[in-house]
Amino acid sequence: AAAPVEGTKRVLLAAPRGYCAGVDRAVIAVEKALEHYGAPVYVRKQIVHNLHVVRTLEAKGAIFVEETEEVPTGELVVFSAHGVSPAVVKSAEDRELRTIDATCPLVTKVHREAVRFARAGQEILLIGHEGHEEVEGTYGEAPEATTIVNNPAEARTVHVTDPENVTWLSQTTLSVDETMEIVAILRERFPNLQDPPSDDICYATTNRQAAIKEIAPHADLVIVVGSANSSNSVRLVEVALEYGARAAHRVDFARQVDESWFAGVTTVGVTSGASVPDVLVQDVLALLAEYGYAGVEEIVTADEDILFSLPKELRAKLKEDG
Ligand code: F3S
Repeated sequence: AAAPVEGTKRVLLAAPRGYCAGVDRAVIAVEKALEHYGAPVYVRKQIVHNLHVVRTLEAKGAIFVEETEEVPTGELVVFSAHGVSPAVVKSAEDRELRTIDATCPLVTKVHREAVRFARAGQEILLIGHEGHEEVEGTYGEAPEATTIVNNPAEARTVHVTDPENVTWLSQTTLSVDETMEIVAILRERFPNLQDPPSDDICYATTNRQAAIKEIAPHADLVIVVGSANSSNSVRLVEVALEYGARAAHRVDFARQVDESWFAGVTTVGVTSGASVPDVLVQDVLALLAEYGYAGVEEIVTADEDILFSLPKELRAKLKEDG
């Protein structure tokens, strides 16, 4: 970033930010399902962890439920981007639900690793937040072989049966730094700890954290657009603070931005989580302009051109409909 003229109010806008390929695909999957099958389309859990997205899809006829048991027999249900355990797939089959699986392919990759390592007799230490949907899904692939490690403290105390046969896997949306810290603790305790074949923390999480790390040291205030249950959005607030932002706040909508945050603030950093449509960021930028933070400089730390094809059930239907 160019050195600012002392006292000039400005915005540093992170890039990449916002939608990742897995979120884009999941949201389009629900939209296409509504177009091609007609409403209602049931969705198990929030398709992606963003309030605005969920409300918009609801207005188009999507019905969000917590569990497949709430979906009437024979109806169509979409599984969210965070993935589902085999038990959920089975319960949908038992209820003769038609399903579209919008699980992000990068989450599916971690599920496959869990199955493969468990079959090979490895004990799995799954680094992630207990209770998060993605962790429930991955854990459910091999519950008897898996232990969840939430944080460094748990890494110091977690018990394994055979330290010679331990592998770690992780949730896709964690803090890169904290995960590396946890792995280092585990490796010190279990020197033969095996790594996953490739990073489980996904490119989108990594790139969004890298962008805010670049901005944070220059920012008096960082605003992260994202929902409270969005793991990667919440991590962006933490990373901003760790890397030197004087303050950092998360908002779902521009109207939640508080005027009191701006006292003595020259430079505002702005970013958004992987489930956030850019229109919400534009709303925040418009508000910042009203407050006099009109100059926006985009700080680009990576180019993203990843695209995932739609879920296969949906591709088949689209083809059939011509
Ligand atoms: Fe997939 Fe990563 Fe997005 S796991 S849904 S690409 S945040």
